[in-house]
Amino acid sequence: MKRLAIVGLQWGDEGKGKMTDVLAKEADLVIRYQGGDNAGHTVKFESYTYDLHILPSGVIHPHVISILGPGMVINLETFFKEKKPFPKAVIKVSNRAHLILPFHKTLDAQKEITQNIGTTKKGIGPSYSDKINRQGIRVASLLNKERFIKEAEILADLHGISFDARAYYDSYENDILELIPNIIDVSKYIDEAVKLNKTIMFEGAQGVMLDISHGTYPYVTSSAPSVSGIPSQVGMAPWLLEGALGIVKAYSTRVGEGPFPTEIHTELAHQIREVAHEYGVTTGRPRRIGYLDLVSLKHAVRVSGITHLAITLLDVMNEMAEIKVCKAYELDGLIIDEVPAHIDDLSRVNPVYDTLNSFKEDISTIDSYDNLPEAAKTYLSYIAKQLEANIASISVGPKREQTIHLLNMWEVSRD
Ligand code: IMP
Repeated sequence: MKRLAIVGLQWGDEGKGKMTDVLAKEADLVIRYQGGDNAGHTVKFESYTYDLHILPSGVIHPHVISILGPGMVINLETFFKEKKPFPKAVIKVSNRAHLILPFHKTLDAQKEITQNIGTTKKGIGPSYSDKINRQGIRVASLLNKERFIKEAEILADLHGISFDARAYYDSYENDILELIPNIIDVSKYIDEAVKLNKTIMFEGAQGVMLDISHGTYPYVTSSAPSVSGIPSQVGMAPWLLEGALGIVKAYSTRVGEGPFPTEIHTELAHQIREVAHEYGVTTGRPRRIGYLDLVSLKHAVRVSGITHLAITLLDVMNEMAEIKVCKAYELDGLIIDEVPAHIDDLSRVNPVYDTLNSFKEDISTIDSYDNLPEAAKTYLSYIAKQLEANIASISVGPKREQTIHLLNMWEVSRD
């Protein structure tokens, strides 16, 4: 396969960073297709750990060309700061991506007072709102300083916020001038790469259950992490995408507000949070913890056309005395197997659980599937069967080498 998407199938934080990093090693291009600096990917390279928020994880590999796609919203402050440790990396930015300006963060914080979505307050929603309202400012505006200043001041006025666009541009002018040769038409760039048979990885941020259309609306992000969103967000024909790897954490987590049917409210949640360091990379907020939810996972697999899975944080499951998996919801006395579209209904569902045997062993040093405890293998095959997908890899710890590879996705053929 030459063009592969990687996407989280839950509410983000599935451990995509490590998986994207492993696969990025064999890619020519790695493209982030949505979101902005609300993402948090921790990647470890040699003795360094990088928390990436806006750059694609491919950036740590010198041969990879990293691309920030047209569907993204870009905060220049984070972008320029984050690229500093990688002076040799080739990083290209779409001329059609939208900018997050400082007042977008102000607007995000203001809206949160009444709406309480639990956003990252990075200005993501307000920047996308301006885009959809046809008044946003794109990266292409940076190519002409006076034009940018005029547009940014008009936009700030529209929001009733004073903003010194000239001072803002001045503070980044050197970085902007350096970036200009790498501001590109991403659709054209991809087209040329496809013709040259280059290997392209599309890196999702957040997760399908946070997708603006397919997630737990309105408790979602403002972009489309789902694989179905990739073609329009990068400017590529859908049939050119050859496959998608779905990342599934062995249990569930969610940060921010919104319904979470399998949430654990006992001491176990605290225990897992501490063992697995379940705190947001971007905001430091404690993540909510829950059992695996197959109803939402089946939904995520379907809307993203997932055929292969990477299961992460399997090692953490030894904290559980029994493994509970939600296989259906009960709503108003009826058993249902789909995610209700209305948030009130989703808030009222009761999970129906299957209970599987747990394993107590430390599996963090196991490097082959055969050597996993029987209960772990049963859990894995249960997930694969329910989701009708093949498991390509299993992560048993945060380090790169703590990964059991069953399939190399780049070697999997399209059918
Ligand atoms: P926003 O993307 O900052 O607008 O936040 C909307 C929702 O998405 C909130 O519940 C956030 O906590 C959540 N969110 C955004 N980015 C991430 C992420 O990278 N991981 C997990 N949750 C996220």
